Amino acid sequence: MTKSIVLVGLMGAGKSSVGRRLAQKLQMPFIDADQEIERAAGCTIPEFFERFGEEEFRRGERRVIQRILDGPPVVLATGGGAFMAEDTRAAIAAHAVSVWLKADLDVLYERVSRRQGRPLLAKNNPREVLRKLMEERYPVYALADLEVESRRGPIEATVERACEVLADYLDGVTDTVPAE
Ligand code: S3P
Repeated sequence: MTKSIVLVGLMGAGKSSVGRRLAQKLQMPFIDADQEIERAAGCTIPEFFERFGEEEFRRGERRVIQRILDGPPVVLATGGGAFMAEDTRAAIAAHAVSVWLKADLDVLYERVSRRQGRPLLAKNNPREVLRKLMEERYPVYALADLEVESRRGPIEATVERACEVLADYLDGVTDTVPAE
């Protein structure tokens, strides 16, 4: 791969789990943007939101993702809000292939219920928040280059689908390059 692969999608879509396995399969390094932000800030994401607020988090998120994309190709799992920023989408389009992991509300809700640490879901009814975010974000996630359904069941099935969709896409890209 000469380009990075960037996974986008809502909280609970499986971006980190799929990304880690996809990177192993493709023998590429894996980076989780949220973990990078935590490392750079020296605190957890809930602590960051608590201390500095969401706007500052978004600024940090944009910087961290831009820096990663300026480096060598990786598989990058982004936080659910990252792709909503226009400049981040432009940087992703310039340096990477974007893959939207699309999941339905039941799947997302089931998965986010297993783990704390998501400030946007901590205060209000998480199912309702997810439903609203789906409405707001799915039309924007749909701008990603590729779409892969993240269904209930073993994560390996989603990884397999992602590999297939990526292979088809890359075949298409190389097909359009004229032979020397
Ligand atoms: C967010 C998603 C989180 C994290 C932050 C905000 C969002 O990442 O970046 O809590 O706006 O959807 P995950 O999608 O990895 O949970």
